[in-house]
Amino acid sequence: MTASPESYFDLQLRFAAHYARIARVPLRAAVDTCTNLRRRFGWMDAGRAAHWEAFLHGIAEGADHAQVLRQACETHAARGPTPTLAKAFGCFSYEVHAREGVLRIHFMEPQPRDPRAGPLARLRMHERLAELRALFAHVRAHHPEAVTVLGVSWLYNLDAYKRLFPPGYGASAALPSFPLHLSGSSTWGQVLDHDQQVKPDVRDALLARLDAMAVQAPWRVFALQALVASSPIACFHAWYG
Ligand SMILES: CC(C)(COP(=O)(O)OP(=O)(O)OC[C@H]1O[C@@H](n2cnc3c(N)ncnc32)[C@H](O)[C@@H]1OP(=O)(O)O)[C@@H](O)C(=O)NCCC(=O)NCCS
Repeated sequence: MTASPESYFDLQLRFAAHYARIARVPLRAAVDTCTNLRRRFGWMDAGRAAHWEAFLHGIAEGADHAQVLRQACETHAARGPTPTLAKAFGCFSYEVHAREGVLRIHFMEPQPRDPRAGPLARLRMHERLAELRALFAHVRAHHPEAVTVLGVSWLYNLDAYKRLFPPGYGASAALPSFPLHLSGSSTWGQVLDHDQQVKPDVRDALLARLDAMAVQAPWRVFALQALVASSPIACFHAWYG
């Protein structure tokens, strides 16, 4: 976890508190569905469910939220750095949903970050392309079951991200026809800069729109909507091959 995670987490708690009020659900339920804290703390696996339960308990009991967050950050820090994903290629990682033949792509710069520039900066574009080339060569060798690439992210609003992929994939980006979830970074990621600090203007715009939040689609108050992009994987093999 890098500098000042509290403000990112604090923003998410404020968002969840608002959702709890308008949806008339307990705060702990809103924190569970509207924030990515569990994932960011590295508590997704069953073995760490007790940490998450204790955190939700602290939140639900109306304790000092800043203190509960601090404790969670300390517990996380005590584990040491989050282990690098086995299937990560620099900023990119993937998972295969074998039954559907779908490859999902994720983007997050590993720590420690490169201090020279953001990971999407043009001067670092060749690094990202090399990572994607390696990722797809690996997938080609090990996952013949993957036939379609599918991405769901706010990043598909950015030319700086789309230029890393086959043009048809970026061009396919469109609003999803299914409900989004807020327990990852596909929407929340937009409030962070490349140094993992909250962007003040994005935070302020989000807080200013909380009153417009709809219970059925709380993600719509974000400035950028997560978009869905997809293409046959053959396009990727041809593009990076
Ligand atoms: C992605 C991330 C590195 C962007 O941070 P950043 O500080 O804006 O990064 P940069 O300054 O390097 O900007 C990268 C490019 O994106 C553009 N950009 C970033 N946010 C933008 C926004 N909200 N609107 C328009 N353009 C934007 C910048 O203009 C720049 O493009 P350019 O080089 O063509 O000018 C940062 O948000 C992050 O790490 N987020 C968490 C990871 C994440 O969201 N993952 C998604 C998981 S599905």
